[in-house]
Amino acid sequence: MASSWKGGLPTLRQGRVSLREIQPEDEDPIVALFRDPRVSRHLADPPRSRKAFRQFVKWSAGTRLAGRYTGFAVRQGARTVGMMYVWVVAPGTAEIGFALSPPMWGTGLFRAAGGLLCRFAFDVMKLHRLEMRIAAENTRAQVAVYKLGATPEGLLRDSFLKDGRYHDSVMFRLLRPEFMATLRS
Ligand SMILES: CC(C)(COP(=O)(O)OP(=O)(O)OC[C@H]1O[C@@H](n2cnc3c(N)ncnc32)[C@H](O)[C@@H]1OP(=O)(O)O)[C@@H](O)C(=O)NCCC(=O)NCCS
Repeated sequence: MASSWKGGLPTLRQGRVSLREIQPEDEDPIVALFRDPRVSRHLADPPRSRKAFRQFVKWSAGTRLAGRYTGFAVRQGARTVGMMYVWVVAPGTAEIGFALSPPMWGTGLFRAAGGLLCRFAFDVMKLHRLEMRIAAENTRAQVAVYKLGATPEGLLRDSFLKDGRYHDSVMFRLLRPEFMATLRS
């Protein structure tokens, strides 16, 4: 499966949690997810309209084929309850991002789904470094990625524009050996 992901994503599973490629049927739950102000509050430009979602699905399939992006729907049983992505920004390095529906926050879903995503990024996409840029005010997400094994590297001043204002982000990194060590501990 080393590079076959470019032709189509596998389904990743842990118990009732699964990650599979975002599909047209995810339109309702994903548009609703990004319309929720608790979710979109700290995100630069999530797809909040149906049109934006459809453009995103097309874009994401094209960039996957080019080996630069994987976009997963997060599923709990048969329900889509979030999305996660890996975006290759340089050889061996990718940015990852995630959003879960608020009723799923604090349930352990992030740890399971985030673990599946990182494992896929390291083992299948053969990446070495994952980066997470998280809004400085978004302390919940910072604690969540820290618990996944990520390390804060510094503050990125005025790194994204939202609602007419520039916001700071914290850069987190997770290297392959660091992730492997968290799996052993
Ligand atoms: C980021 C996200 C996926 C994390 O999932 P989650 O289920 O909320 O994360 P967890 O509950 O596993 O971890 C959050 C931790 O932060 C803690 N926490 C909650 N609110 C906090 C706050 N305001 N300040 C500090 N810590 C906080 C929680 O108690 C929890 O720690 P614990 O497990 O020791 O109790 C989810 O919150 C989300 O979808 N947020 C909106 C989108 C987003 O911000 N994405 C990240 C940017 S890419």
